[in-house]
Amino acid sequence: MKLKKENILIVDDNYDMLELLQRNLKSFNFHAYKASSVHEAIEVLKSTSIDLLITDLQMPEINGIELIKYASEHFPSIPKLVITGFPSVDTAINAVKSGALDYLTKPFTSEELKKAIQMCLKNAVQNTNQTIEKKVLKEPFYSGIVGDSEEHFKLIDVIERVKDNRVTVLIEGESGTGKELIARAIHYNGRFASQPFITVNCGGIPETLLESELFGYVKGAFTGANETTKGLFHAATGGTIFLDEIGNASLTVQSRLLRVLQEKEITRIGSQLAEKIEIRIISATNSNLQNMIKNGTFREDLYYRLNVVSIESTPLRNRKSDLLPLINTFIKKYEKEYGKSNITITPKAIDLLTRHDWPGNVRELENIMQRLIVLCDHEIDVDLIPKQLKYKQPSESAHLKPLHEIEKAHILKVLSAVNNNKTKAAEILQIDRKTLRQKLQ
Ligand SMILES: Nc1ncnc2c1ncn2[C@@H]1O[C@H](COP(=O)(O)OP(=O)(O)OP(=O)(O)O)[C@@H](O)[C@H]1O
Ligand SMILES: [Mg+2]
Repeated sequence: MKLKKENILIVDDNYDMLELLQRNLKSFNFHAYKASSVHEAIEVLKSTSIDLLITDLQMPEINGIELIKYASEHFPSIPKLVITGFPSVDTAINAVKSGALDYLTKPFTSEELKKAIQMCLKNAVQNTNQTIEKKVLKEPFYSGIVGDSEEHFKLIDVIERVKDNRVTVLIEGESGTGKELIARAIHYNGRFASQPFITVNCGGIPETLLESELFGYVKGAFTGANETTKGLFHAATGGTIFLDEIGNASLTVQSRLLRVLQEKEITRIGSQLAEKIEIRIISATNSNLQNMIKNGTFREDLYYRLNVVSIESTPLRNRKSDLLPLINTFIKKYEKEYGKSNITITPKAIDLLTRHDWPGNVRELENIMQRLIVLCDHEIDVDLIPKQLKYKQPSESAHLKPLHEIEKAHILKVLSAVNNNKTKAAEILQIDRKTLRQKLQ
């Protein structure tokens, strides 16, 4: 997983100090946000996802301790570092009591600043991990996502990390693995949950319409553009736009998307006016974008922009410990829907379901469970399970052998065809006799 550069907010009433800190932060490869008063700082905290707050203590009007207190109450997960020109045990204790992790005394060297920042960020990650771990262990059901496997808990961990900021997320995985469910969970559990969540099916809208649907147009931009219209990006402002099946977006749409991601602004078709937007983009695909990049159908630069955080949604066959909780969830869901109750499933039936490869993933499992619940009286047993699940078709991967086995079989076949004549066999195999001897050994 690749995460963004950290956003650091620096607060100081002294302009020269702000400039100096900003230069330092840039050279350490962080994004710097500046505020020259507590009021300004609070505005930034409210509108931006900040990873570390660095504040001066002595400021006119409201002092830094008040800011630390405010941030500790409203943004407890943001670590706070204090810089002060008046070192005293009292100030230090006061700052730490109010929620600061550490304090630096002016003047400090760039190296001291770097160390203090690293310590604060590391500390924050450890704290987040601890809270996530506690939370995740209790959450086999997370926003409709059910599971009990290591992959399931890892997934929830990533959702927890990205849900509160506007970092761009790309979800890749086979059909039916829950990509849309993940996108919704990120949005509805995060800070922007009250803002819109807009899904765009990039494969479902005709290519000619997708651009105008996404970006809107001005009156007269093309034939039929009778009035100025807002696009889906506008509609999702403040919230999340979910670009589903992004692999199906045309190259024209891809280049427009790239501009949106680079400039954070959109231009309606036919307009010269660019408008700033605050939006989170989550995209999903079951296509292999890497292959599409190789054959020129997907832009590499767009791929990297979309893929700031990447989430792999694992096929069900590779996380079979999710099966049982999923089966139980679907039993509960569908017995209610079909007016049944107390439906059970036999261990043999579970065993059969566990052996299946689930090429259609959770969607396939849900369909089968729905059907089984309709058909059964009170118990789901082997006799109800569809034939294709009972007599397992060997999957394509089961036929695939390691290279050394194929090589061995081929060498033996050639040798037998030439009556064990090693010179002839080596000639046919186009290797020298010594190599053949080694391989036979
Ligand atoms: N972990 C899960 N827990 C509960 N239900 C799940 C889970 N994963 C997927 N589902 C269900 O499976 C179905 C398919 O999920 P979803 O539509 O999110 O998959 P997808 O990866 O977007 O598929 P596609 O690529 O075909 O669009 C949905 O009904 C969803 O609710
Ligand atoms: Mg989907």
